[in-house]
Parts: sequence; structure tokens; C-alpha cells
Amino acid sequence: MSENSTSPSTTQDNAPVTVLGLGHIGLPTALGLAELGRQVIGADDDARKVGLIRNGDPTFYEPGVAELLAKHLKSGKFQPVDDVAAAVRAGSIIFICVGTPQKTNGQADLGQVEAVAQVVARNLNGYKLLVEKSTVPAITAQWLKRTIVRYNSGKASPAPGSALAAPPLAFDVASNPEFLREGKALEDFFHPNRIVCGVESERARDLLVNLYSPLKCPLVLTNTSTAELIKHAANAFLSMKISFINMVSDLCEKVGADVGAVARGIGLDNRIGPQFLDAGIGYGGYCFPKDLRAFIHLAEEHGVDFSLLQEVEHINQSRVDMFVGKVRHAIWNLRGKKLGILGLAFKAGTDDIREAVSLKIIETLRDEGSILRLYDPQAMPNTQRMVPASPQVSYCTSVDEVAQGAHALLLLTEWEEFRQLDLARLREVMEVPVLVDGRNLYDPEAVHRAGFEYFSIGRADPVPAGMHTSPGVALK
Ligand code: UGA
Repeated sequence: MSENSTSPSTTQDNAPVTVLGLGHIGLPTALGLAELGRQVIGADDDARKVGLIRNGDPTFYEPGVAELLAKHLKSGKFQPVDDVAAAVRAGSIIFICVGTPQKTNGQADLGQVEAVAQVVARNLNGYKLLVEKSTVPAITAQWLKRTIVRYNSGKASPAPGSALAAPPLAFDVASNPEFLREGKALEDFFHPNRIVCGVESERARDLLVNLYSPLKCPLVLTNTSTAELIKHAANAFLSMKISFINMVSDLCEKVGADVGAVARGIGLDNRIGPQFLDAGIGYGGYCFPKDLRAFIHLAEEHGVDFSLLQEVEHINQSRVDMFVGKVRHAIWNLRGKKLGILGLAFKAGTDDIREAVSLKIIETLRDEGSILRLYDPQAMPNTQRMVPASPQVSYCTSVDEVAQGAHALLLLTEWEEFRQLDLARLREVMEVPVLVDGRNLYDPEAVHRAGFEYFSIGRADPVPAGMHTSPGVALK
């Protein structure tokens, strides 16, 4: 439809907002809306999780969320419940924030989304605006509409021969994809780059515009299918940027170039932009890998050859072998070597390890016979559930402990804590001072000065003192 700035709307509907699903997206969204002054009911059918949230435990690490949760449990603006049907009846705007995991064929599994639509259908006690926040493939909104009509106890369609036509169902479906990043969820909620609202009625549009009116950013108003596609296209494009720079980094290593400088050099072009050009071990997390596959699947379903994205995924998957190859290149044989792993979370700022590249690297190194000592400031409890401690894998409580007797340190997550390492001290306790940096966190010269051999991404290998030859072809 149009692109506007959010501005106060004439619709002053302050009815309670219901958020269904209290995970990484639902909980920050619910608390953000409470902070904007709305009365929010947060529902999840996991009673144990709701119990913890009621006691002030967000159940996952996300900066600022525990504080905001405490604030709005106290203010009464946020009410966590495990009765989803009651939550649907109580709210007039209902956000769907349930999981959309992937099936084995890569397609998005929309079972939980349909289940929500059925609950809504059975609890329509007045006008409801059902809003997709979860990432869903295009035309899911149409399915939601159909599902609500279908499961609304037959009220939608009058009995054959009946003289009385049933009143039209009072609901709308909208798509309002979220762009929150884990680790920065609240920052992104309060300072979004844009808000996208896909709507099919003026009433739905006014409700959403009013809801977000306190936030100042561009508003993209469009139809539901376009909004759904914007979300998938955004995540696919960002994944593509990462795979692109990762391939450039491989080339940099071959020709003696520096990928950081290349990223800066291209990123200063406004048309390219500087973000998401950090070369490394590849992208992970709950969103990019699954959303990319779902987008590829959607394209295939509609007969569109989007093999470009298949290549993006292929490049990403090959980063594990690239990194393990780098470790092998740094220390020769892997079997029996003690390797200190710094970082397990799929990125800094979260305890999330879903689809974390670190886990795939750890699995490969373990299969190769290395002895692994792991440390992460937040993600160890989650990792311990996936990779139990064993004679080959142990968990440490500090970087110093990880470094004891190690043949190399492998840096896999860009935690702030790891930027501040006292390398000279670590060198003293290591068997061999080798650092393989999967995130290019360090200045190579500083690491060399601290007495380490340093291997990073997209930067030429260290050359021992006195053996330096300048790379490249001599100019005639
Ligand atoms: C991503 C998007 O950035 C959000 O906008 C979106 O809302 C979210 O998915 C979602 O769909 O829910 P998130 O998964 O939290 O957010 O993480 P990102 O910060 O995007 O990072 C994803 C992965 O890419 C991480 O493994 C990160 O280390 C990697 N990455 C990121 C790089 O390897 N290089 C970069 O330059 C940037």
C-alpha cells in the first residue's frame, strides 16, 4: 500500500494485547508492548515455563529482559498465563509468536500456527486481530483466515436451508514480521529500522498503526503476502551477504589480502552497507538456517529456480570443514591434542546454541579424537544438555582453565569477554601458544606480540620473523 512514518492514529483502542508463545520473540515483544503502555497477556501452553516467568525468570538469557520482566510483573502490565484459550478471549490484538520449526525437507512446520488459529476460532468472543509475528511463508495469512472460519463451530456458514444467515465473523489476520535479533531484542524492539504491517482491512491497519505509534521509524504498510515475503527475503539476503563475504575471505587468504579491509572498502558504498560483512565460521541460530531452507522450499513449490540461495546454504555448511582444516593446518594432527574452545553460543549476547556452528565444529573435532575443554559465559548449561561431559569433553569455569595445557585455543563466539583476554598470561599456561580465531576478534600484530601463532579468517597466515616476503606479483 504505502510507506509512512508511524504517527498517532485516530483509533484509540487500548484493549489488552495477547501474545501467544513466550520464547525468544514472544517474551521481548510482550514486555516491549507493556513498556509502551499496553496491558499484555502473555500465554504459553508450557505451564512450567509460565511458572518460571511468573517468578521473574525469563527462561533464557537476553540482555534487559529479566529487568523489564520484573518491572512489568510488578506494574501488572504483563500477565503470564498458561491458559491459551482464556488469553485469546481476553485480548483483541493477538500476536502469534509460536515456533515454526523446519521439517526434514526444509519446509516450515506450521502445526503450532494452525493450532493457535483453531484456538482463536473456538474463542471468538468479539472482534480479534490475529497478527503473525513468527516467520511464516507467504500465504500463511490466507490459511489462517480459512482455518478460523472452518473451526468456528460452524457459525461461519449457515446450515443448508436456514433462513438466517450467520453474521460475518469479526476478525482480521495481519502479518507483522519481527526483525529482532537475539542478544539485542529489546534494543531492536524500541529502535527498529522499520515496522512492516501487512493488512487486509482499515480496522487492522488502524489498530497496528496505533499500537506502534510511540515508535518512530518508517512504516511499511502492505498486504499480508508481501509482508510475509519481506521477512523471508530479509533473512535470506542477510544470509547471502554472510556467505558472500565468507567466500571473499577464502580468496583473501589465497592472494594475501585482508577481508576486514575488503569489507570496509565495499561496505562504505551506501548501496552495499557495512553490516553483515564479518567473515567467520558461518551463520547459525534458530532463524537464518531454517528460514533460508523454508524460503528455498517456497520458491521450489512455486516453480521458481532460486538456486542462488542453495549456494548460500552450501557455502555456509562448508565453513565447518574450512575451520577444522584451519585448525589442522595450525597444529597438524588433531588426535590427542588438547583444544580450548572459547564460545559456544551461535553469537555473542545469547545463551542460544540452536544450529550453532560451534557445536558442529566440536562434534567434528571430537570425532577426530581431540580432547576438548569448553567455556562460554552464558551458553554452557544449554550445551551440556546437547554435548554431555565425557572423558573427551569437559566444561570449564574460566578462560584460564580452558587454556591450561592446551595445544591451541579456538575462538568461536565473539563475546566481549574474549576481546579482553590477557594473552601473555594465557601463553604461560598453554602447552603451545596457538590461537585459531573464527571471528577475527584480534589484531594479528597484538597476538604475535603476545607470543602466539595466530590463524584467523581471510587474513594471511602468520609468517615467522625474518622470513617475510611481500605477497603479490611484482609490478614491472
Ligand atoms: C536474525 C536477523 O538478524 C533478525 O533480523 C531476525 O529477526 C531474526 O534472525 C529472526 O528471524 O528471528 P539472529 O538470528 O538473532 O537474527 O542473529 P543475527 O545477529 O542475524 O546473526 C545470525 C548469524 O549470522 C550468527 O551466527 C552470526 O554470528 C552470523 N553473522 C552475522 C556472521 O557470521 N557475520 C555477520 O557479519 C553477521
